[in-house]
Amino acid sequence: MLHFREKSLYDFSIFRIIGNDLPPRDVVGNRYKILKFILEHEETFAGTHKGWIVNCIHDLEYREKICDLLRQHGSYYVIIPFNRNAYQKSDRRGKILHAIPINRARNMAIEFGRNIARYTAVLDGDCYFDASTWNNITDFIKSERPSRQYYTVPHTRSTMEHVLHSNEPMGPLGEPMPIIRNDAPLRFDENIIFGQGDKVRFLHMLGHSIEPQKTHTLLRENTTKVIGYVHHLATGDEQTETDLQHRINLRKQSIDHLLQNLDDPEKFKKMTLRHRSVSTNECYKNIQGWFDFQGVYSHLAFSMADNARFVEIGSWLGASICYMAEQIVARKKNVHLYAVDTWEGSDEEDHRKIILEINKRGETLYGNFVENMKSCNVAHLIRPVRMPSVKASDFFPDGSVDVVFIDASHQYKDVLNDIKHWIPKVKKGGIIGGHDYAITHPVSQRGVIRAVNEFFAANSLELRIGGRVWLHYKK
Ligand SMILES: C[S@@+](CC[C@H](N)C(=O)[O-])C[C@H]1O[C@@H](n2cnc3c(N)ncnc32)[C@H](O)[C@@H]1O
Repeated sequence: MLHFREKSLYDFSIFRIIGNDLPPRDVVGNRYKILKFILEHEETFAGTHKGWIVNCIHDLEYREKICDLLRQHGSYYVIIPFNRNAYQKSDRRGKILHAIPINRARNMAIEFGRNIARYTAVLDGDCYFDASTWNNITDFIKSERPSRQYYTVPHTRSTMEHVLHSNEPMGPLGEPMPIIRNDAPLRFDENIIFGQGDKVRFLHMLGHSIEPQKTHTLLRENTTKVIGYVHHLATGDEQTETDLQHRINLRKQSIDHLLQNLDDPEKFKKMTLRHRSVSTNECYKNIQGWFDFQGVYSHLAFSMADNARFVEIGSWLGASICYMAEQIVARKKNVHLYAVDTWEGSDEEDHRKIILEINKRGETLYGNFVENMKSCNVAHLIRPVRMPSVKASDFFPDGSVDVVFIDASHQYKDVLNDIKHWIPKVKKGGIIGGHDYAITHPVSQRGVIRAVNEFFAANSLELRIGGRVWLHYKK
């Protein structure tokens, strides 16, 4: 059960989702052109935060080009990486879901928006608001009593030229974009594949018609209200934009084309993460914990240079830091590893239970950690820092750490404090990240996700989300 938070950082947030160019449906390069146009021409709206979801862009060079542009404009953006392993293991349907997870991105946008604003508009990446229309929409929402959980804004296909000179819709109204209050429970169905009514089925739950060309009309009036319009800029050529059946056919071809590319090992090379895992004796597996981010640690171990400093906040019995130490040894690197923990556990039932059992044996959590590190033969590589994380940060000069990984308290205030105190410690080009960014988990939503989203949105910094891990690459 979600509660309406009247007091939020912003009244409104606008999240746009930017994905791959999908030829032949899209003219290659048009998405980038449109992104640039929006960043350069759409006005700043008072009380409205804008964010971008960079959704599963497979070509890493292209993704970097997009992120560069977003950075140049001081935009807040979140990268959803492509999950290559999951893609490769899937059948065709699963492959499409992994290659273009459009509804997952929309749901993420709702989650991000919910944490920072009263209402979130979830838009396709090529949507553009002129100031007077957006102000009319937000004035209307603010004045409605009682306010609703959902509003819907139909799109009109417009050219860039048109939106520069007119506040009117250019063409007829079509499929709407939702604006969602922060307590609204409905979500997009992540099992619907791209192009198979991914958005329409959500709109249908709000009372919209599901019939093509009529999706902006309402069959039921009580759930949502249709207001204003949003310009939808063209990503395809003229015939594609005006002919629905043609667009549907091309979309099918685009998906085939994309899967062919992703399945081609040669083309795929430049899209792959540039690290390979190395095998170790996996002693970490004997240690109790909640460690499920081996892939991220393996990537970090690969990325860190000799003499780098790695700080783990929250080590518990040592499973994760032991894994990192094993990776560093296997890669023949010299990395300084710090394990910061009070070794008192967090205020969580699991922790209390396990600590009680350890204490019954006349032992301590810290003592067990040290023993574990010794028996895995990594104790000489790890410096334990036994104190609260914020206090520990004082011992590290600003810009002195290559990677900080936070896996400590899940409480909102603690996570926010951890980020605030540790981000200055990370050097330029370094990484800060953390665990328990579990989008469907209520505890994570209230604590980790809210803190992470608020901090990175308020500071307009890039965020990458993969599995239950968030990462920020400091520029
Ligand atoms: C979830 S456990 C860490 C699990 C470990 N990374 C693993 O994968 O096995 C969280 C740890 O954070 C520590 N912790 C919680 N709040 C802390 C704080 N403010 N400062 C330092 N350590 C803290 C707890 O003592 C606990 O050991």
